[in-house]
Amino acid sequence: MAKEQNTSFQDVVSHCKKLGFIYQSSEIYGGLSAVYDYGPYGILLKNNIKQYWWKSMVQMNENIVGLDAAIFMDPKVWKASGHVDAFSDPLVDNKDSNKRYRADTLIEDYIESKIQKKIDKDVAKAAKKFGEAFDKAEFLATNGRILDRQKKIDEILNRMNTALNSGDLTDVRQLIIDLDIACPVSGSRNWTEVRQFNLMFSTQGGGATSDDKLYLRPETAQGIFVNFLNVLNTSRQKIPFGIAQIGKAFRNEIVARQFIFRMREFEQMEMQFFVRPGQQQEFYQKWKEARMKWHLALGTSPDKLRFHDHETLAHYADAALDIEFQFPFGFKELEGVHSRTDFDLKAHQEHSGKKLQYFDPELDESYVPCVVETSIGCDRMFLAMMSNAYQIDEAPDSKGVLKERVVLRLHPAIAPIKCAVLPLVKKDEALTKKAREIFDTIKYSFECQYDEKDAVGRRYRRQDELGTPYCITIDEQTIEDNTVTIRERDSMKQERISVSEIEKIVSERVDMRNLLKQL
Ligand code: GAP
Repeated sequence: MAKEQNTSFQDVVSHCKKLGFIYQSSEIYGGLSAVYDYGPYGILLKNNIKQYWWKSMVQMNENIVGLDAAIFMDPKVWKASGHVDAFSDPLVDNKDSNKRYRADTLIEDYIESKIQKKIDKDVAKAAKKFGEAFDKAEFLATNGRILDRQKKIDEILNRMNTALNSGDLTDVRQLIIDLDIACPVSGSRNWTEVRQFNLMFSTQGGGATSDDKLYLRPETAQGIFVNFLNVLNTSRQKIPFGIAQIGKAFRNEIVARQFIFRMREFEQMEMQFFVRPGQQQEFYQKWKEARMKWHLALGTSPDKLRFHDHETLAHYADAALDIEFQFPFGFKELEGVHSRTDFDLKAHQEHSGKKLQYFDPELDESYVPCVVETSIGCDRMFLAMMSNAYQIDEAPDSKGVLKERVVLRLHPAIAPIKCAVLPLVKKDEALTKKAREIFDTIKYSFECQYDEKDAVGRRYRRQDELGTPYCITIDEQTIEDNTVTIRERDSMKQERISVSEIEKIVSERVDMRNLLKQL
């Protein structure tokens, strides 16, 4: 069996760029920071992820309908939602380097580099010393030095969260000073005051007066809330029901790093589920489990996914969690599931003066529904899938010698190209003619690629790097008996099948229904 090697985040980023999955925006001008473009293979993978999400929501649930709201909305929407007053990050500048940082990120980075790293080192040392008998959970729960370090982390986070939640920015600055945090660029501790910086981008409307200030939406959810009545009155839905939407969102992130993990322009896939007040906890649990199932169906190992309950809740939420994925740089938020109570609809009701209520025939009364939200970044999901799929193993070359192979083990249903059609040699016109014929027949059913350049072994490698689950090879025998070989990406096993079976076999194996049936 082929040996797998460890891969780094840098490998994944380079692969995305090299293979045409993702490019930096405006690259020929030096590149716009934290904004990215999707290339020929990236757009196919991204569309497949979106399609999987959309089908799992709108197609699979009779009581979920879709929406595509505009990016621009009445600015009063953002006042009502709280984004104008409170959608901000705490910033601090270093006076010597003139570099700007998110205060909470500086503190979190301190924890990571000064304390957590020591814990990880101790764990690695103990694991080496005790070998198979090592019980990590027990070690973390009982080792005195680790407990002291963990206590210190908890104290720091507690103080930071209390200060941030109460708006005590002076204490956030004091914490930076108490921890003796230095600017990574200048090395000095010469910090400005900490202040809040609103993350919304704004622009001017047609009239170009200050009253015409328009915001680029920082989340898609508000487009759903303000259309609650429209959808209710036109879709014949009854509570409980949901509205799903995929669309662009914009945030002026100060710390934009880790490639497409944190971007200034990104895409969200959000679903707001409207329920009877009092039933939100039940649906929160339901959606929490449903969303984890959605991730697991893609073949991601359960070890790489976990729930993280929010310790401190936003003022409008009565429960909230993240689904975290183990990115190459650690477990980080991939998706949020939030029980947002009736806060959003009530806020829009108050600011718009329109009643946003539902008449419940079973109860014979009207109420403002509560909302359970699932919210995932499409780009972040893309990065999770690329990080999960990118592997280096070994494969025999034409002489049977094991050579390193880069392979993207994407689930076939989301792979950009489903099937490559390869004549064994380019020179043989009978083979290329037959291969073209096959390509022209099967291209109606799924995304295919015809490739005749280079030796067939190199072409297999190229398809492995793109994550193509199947390669069809047309050889001498094809001309004699109308059969081809079909090669499977992960096992590299080849089978001989008849030309007439190709379309059916590949269609069945790459069918998105295979994912949906697991939900
Ligand atoms: N409506 C709720 C909401 O927007 P959020 O936790 O701010 O909640 C939801 O965002 C998801 O959107 C995150 O879990 C993440 O996947 C994605 N996301 C948020 N900010 C992002 C950014 N700057 N770049 C890429 N994805 C982002």
